[in-house]
Amino acid sequence: MSALKILFVSPEVEPFVKVGGLADMVGALPKELAQLGHEVRIVCPAYGSVKRVGEWRALAAPLGVDVGPVTQWARTWETVLPDTAVPVYFLENHDHFARPEVYTGPWGACDDNDRRFAFLCRGALALCQQLDWVPDVIHGHDWTTGLLPVMLNTTLRDTPLGRAATVFTIHNLEHQGYAPARVVDYARLPWGEFHRDGIEAGGMVNLLKAGLYHATKLTTVSPTYAREILTAEGGFGLEGVLRFRAGDLVGILNGIDADSWDPAHDRTLPANYSATDLRGKARCKAALQRHFQLEENPVVPLFGVVSRLVAQKGLDLLAEVLPAVMERMAIQLVLLGSGDGRLENTFTWAAQAYRGRCGAQIGFDGKLARLIQAGSDCFVMPSRAEPCGLTQMYAMRYGTLPLVRATGGLVDTVENFAEGQARGTGFVFHAPTAGALADTLGWVCATYYDRPQEFAGLQQRAMAQDFSWSRSAARYVDLYRWAVEARTGAPA
Ligand code: ADP
Ligand code: GLC
Repeated sequence: MSALKILFVSPEVEPFVKVGGLADMVGALPKELAQLGHEVRIVCPAYGSVKRVGEWRALAAPLGVDVGPVTQWARTWETVLPDTAVPVYFLENHDHFARPEVYTGPWGACDDNDRRFAFLCRGALALCQQLDWVPDVIHGHDWTTGLLPVMLNTTLRDTPLGRAATVFTIHNLEHQGYAPARVVDYARLPWGEFHRDGIEAGGMVNLLKAGLYHATKLTTVSPTYAREILTAEGGFGLEGVLRFRAGDLVGILNGIDADSWDPAHDRTLPANYSATDLRGKARCKAALQRHFQLEENPVVPLFGVVSRLVAQKGLDLLAEVLPAVMERMAIQLVLLGSGDGRLENTFTWAAQAYRGRCGAQIGFDGKLARLIQAGSDCFVMPSRAEPCGLTQMYAMRYGTLPLVRATGGLVDTVENFAEGQARGTGFVFHAPTAGALADTLGWVCATYYDRPQEFAGLQQRAMAQDFSWSRSAARYVDLYRWAVEARTGAPA
């Protein structure tokens, strides 16, 4: 079968710029596709905070981007995904991207997001034209790229680029990108698209909905989430559009970059280990306890959290049960995260109140995230909703048992412990309540102290799971071919 040309357009890509798991996905899937022989390229904005990993060179010609009444200009920086030949292009433009923030302006303002991301979409397409490179498939991610399929279906439909099929991946339906109607002119779209069965919602443009209506095929990041978003509860107002497009929507479980996230070779860890020799894990636990100034005790269950502190992640439930749990159970807990100010304060307070048993670090720290994955015994993820979730997969690979709520991708990746039956890879609870979480923390604790052999069995099974991208990448290739056929009427 012929190799495909695939363009990824994304607001985040690891290791250059990362807010959450979207960056991990966009940093890993292209690698796997390239290994399968496909030609992949990536376009991302050059935010002020982008890390200049590897060699960067500026393309000689400036890039003209037709947005608003005039042509605006970008400088294009080219580099590659580390350890691959996959080109990554960063679009530099002072007005749109010079700031460090990815999704907002200073102080959380997002009043120019419509223009910034319309510029990204038009810019990515203009770059293809400038490079004289027509992709078979353009793969956009979340609301920031929602206008891209609309552009290809309207003003660009009768140009060579108009042949490109679009695949649009929903990473999180909670973020939809509401934009003022002025973006229609700014993105140079026909006003004929501005209606309810198109890009309009409540007098504004819903950027995510635009992508959902216009993309050739839709994906989301786990099979369970693909079902949840068709319901009134999980659809966040877009369940109607999603049901309308259900025949073109598939849930493909995210993989993990198994080279990067490998306890046997992770160079950021104080010691390496594998399922057959876990001594290095004990050293990581001691290092983690030292980092947070906890009592250095190898035989106390250590619970870890690495997360954005937002409502979706359910960490308010953990905050609620924390005092009771710390009083009643002989455990330690460490947390790394940032977001909601009240949660930041609660966990900072807990670290003071239970000094020596509880630690919290507010912020983003890739190296510490890995130490927490390696050094903890249990990784806590009480998400209210979780489209896929990557951290529970990293945890299992690092021999750290996930404690998760049964939602979205957590259902598809964690098998609940069945006591006495040598089954399961973690601990699962259902009701999104503090009580259910507290009970499950107690269950982990009892298993750790009273049935260490069963705990070790869980650990072995968790570490034996294969979450690498190989299977899911093949599914994306099938989907790309299906999209090309739908777009062009001819098999890819
Ligand atoms: P989401 O994308 O919803 O945040 P995922 O589980 O898919 O959830 O991915 C989160 C990613 O972000 C993981 O790679 C995780 O390690 C990382 N991460 C989250 N918070 C932090 C933090 N405070 N410091 C470092 N890495 C973090
Ligand atoms: C989103 C989701 C998360 C998912 C990630 C990567 O950030 O919240 O569940 O793992 O995207 O697809």
